[in-house]
Order: sequence, then structure tokens, then C-alpha cells
Amino acid sequence: MDYEKLGQEAIAQIGAASDLDALEALRVALLGKQGSVSALLKTLGGLTPDERKETGPKIHSLRESVTGALANRKEALEAAQMEARLASETVDLSLPAPESPRGSVHPVSQVMDELAEIFADLGFAVATGPEIEDDWHNFTALNMPESHPARAMHDTFYFPADGGEMNPPAGGNATRMLLRTHTSPVQVRTMLAQGAPLRIIAPGRVYRSDSDATHTPMFHQVEGLVIDRDIHLGHLKWTLETFLKAFFERDDIVLRLRPSYFPFTEPSVEVDVGFALETGPDGKARRVLGGSGDAPGHAWMELLGSGMVNRRVIEFAGLDPDQWQGFAFGVGVDRLAMLKYGMDDLRAFFDGDVRWLRHYGFSAFDQPTLSAGVGARL
Ligand code: DAH
Repeated sequence: MDYEKLGQEAIAQIGAASDLDALEALRVALLGKQGSVSALLKTLGGLTPDERKETGPKIHSLRESVTGALANRKEALEAAQMEARLASETVDLSLPAPESPRGSVHPVSQVMDELAEIFADLGFAVATGPEIEDDWHNFTALNMPESHPARAMHDTFYFPADGGEMNPPAGGNATRMLLRTHTSPVQVRTMLAQGAPLRIIAPGRVYRSDSDATHTPMFHQVEGLVIDRDIHLGHLKWTLETFLKAFFERDDIVLRLRPSYFPFTEPSVEVDVGFALETGPDGKARRVLGGSGDAPGHAWMELLGSGMVNRRVIEFAGLDPDQWQGFAFGVGVDRLAMLKYGMDDLRAFFDGDVRWLRHYGFSAFDQPTLSAGVGARL
């Protein structure tokens, strides 16, 4: 048998294989279990030693050259395939990036960041407390003893009592758990944990069983608390004025302090802010803060509650009210966001509608800073 000729034919076939599939078929036909070269190798067993001496090396070299030719052709075909891909697939780096799902910063988060930035500049730290609170911190320690009428105004979500009782405790119960109805319990927790002096804000979620266009069962408040020696109402007014001017980025914010009542402050003041009605870009009337509410075309709007911390609260929180005084305030964060960024329905804040977020959401790159302005650029 002319092994050399056999080899040349096989190598020619291999060289002519036009793609990797054809080449693989050839490899199987030549070197596979049933392949022709494999069959030749099997014949060696039936030869005499002399014949084997002569034929063996020829068959082996045939197999070597076929194996080598297959490997070379495979490499060449793979390189050609890569060339073709590189030629057909192009990346145009000048194209805009494809639209990918992108998150945005929720207005509530944005406003909380703005508040933290403004108050940090005034030396306030951010404090937190649990949303699942007990009756004592939420009410009793804030001078709302059991059966205090102010409790009824809070539409509290209570957890079932230990015995499974679902109804709110008739006479109150210091250990009954509830969803905190305001951020004020953080005042008590922080005084108990850190003592005095103290300057904190406590932003967070609060819960009340109430729902319409301006009330949602969950909403956000920020509490402010300053405890020190010789603190008086003047400090409170200056702090609120400074905060609101920085937050609304207007120097003409005018406040009116009105006597009011909260169990945890004495005296208590409700703070109104002057505003004018203007027509927005959408043709709708909107409230624009600034100017005295007594000026022509202006009115007052109630904005927040505050006052001097009640002596009893300071006592409940383990401090001596003859040494330490302070002021506190509480304001709705969602309300602040609506006033600053012009939303009119609170419920939309919590619908999770991505179109609303696209419209009102903020870029993660818009970090509020006092130097660049705490307001996000719209
Ligand atoms: N906790 C009150 C509420 O939720 C708001 C409030 C009023 C907080 C007066 C205060 C304050 O700290 O001094 O209605």
C-alpha cells in the first residue's frame, strides 16, 4: 500500500475543508474509532515482526502528518473566523449609551439630605429611633399620660397586646407596642442615651391611621432638639429662620410665631410662614414662600410645631430641668418637599410610579452642599 500517497490525499482533503464542521467530519473519518487511519493501525497486530518493522513506521508517520495537518487547518480556520467577526462586528464609541434602567433619588430622600446638610452646618447631629415604639416613649414620656386627650388625636396603630388583645389600651399601657406617631420619642431616647448638652435632628418615618390627598398612613417628619443651659425662644426663632432661609434658598422668608399647645412643650408655638399665590408654568396656582403674610397678595400658612421643651419631658428623660432647658420642633418632610418642589398630591410620594419619579426624582450626582446650594437643580 502506498502510505505516502494516502497521506498526501488526506492532507489535500484537510486543506480543502472549508469550515470547522467539515474539518471535524474529516477528523472523525480519518482518526476516529472507525476512521481509515485508525483501521490501518489496527492491521499492525496481524503482521509478522519483519513486516511490522517495515510498515509500522510508515503508518505511524501517516498518522502524525494527518494529525499535524488537522491541527494546522483548525488553527487557520479559527483565525479566519475571528477575522470575519472583527470585520463585521463594530463598536461605535461615538453612539450614546443605550437606555438602561436608572434609579433616581426620591424627593423625600433628597429633602432629608438637604436638612442634614443645613443642620450639620449649625452643629446638629442626626439621631434615629425605632419605628416600632412603645407607648411610654411615644406618649407618656412626652407628657401625654395615659388617658391624655392628645393621644386620641394621633390615630395610633397599636400592635396586639401580649394576650392578643387588639383594641387600644383603655387607660394606656407603658409597654404596649405601636408604630410611632411622630418623631418626638427620639427626643426622649437621645436625652436618655446621651445626656446634655445636645443638638440633634431626627428625620424618619411616622405612622397614623389616616388617608386622603394630604394624609397617608405613613409619612415623614423631622424632629429638632436643642438642650443646653439658658436656651430661650430667641434661639428657636433664629434657628428656624436660618434653616428655612437655607432650605427654600430665599432671604425673604418671614415667620410668625403663634401661641399654641403641645403637651411636650411649654410654651408652645405654631410657626406660620408668609407666602404668595403665583401661577406656575403649568398654569396652576401655587404657593410661593416669601414675604410677610400680612403684605398685599400674601397670606400665612402653618408650617410646623415647636416650643420650649416641657420640664416634665426633661425630667422623664433623666435630666435636671433647673439646669437644662431647650427647644424642640417637628415638621413634615413630605410637606417641605411639596412646598419646595411643587407637588400637589402626597399620595403620589408612595405610589412607586416610575413616571412620577422620573419627573420629580433627583440625580444621585446632585449632592446637596451649602456652597453649591442645597437645592437640586431641576
Ligand atoms: N410631634 C408633633 C406632631 O407630630 C410635632 C411637634 C410639635 C414636634 C411641637 C415638636 C414640637 O418637637 O415641639 O404633631
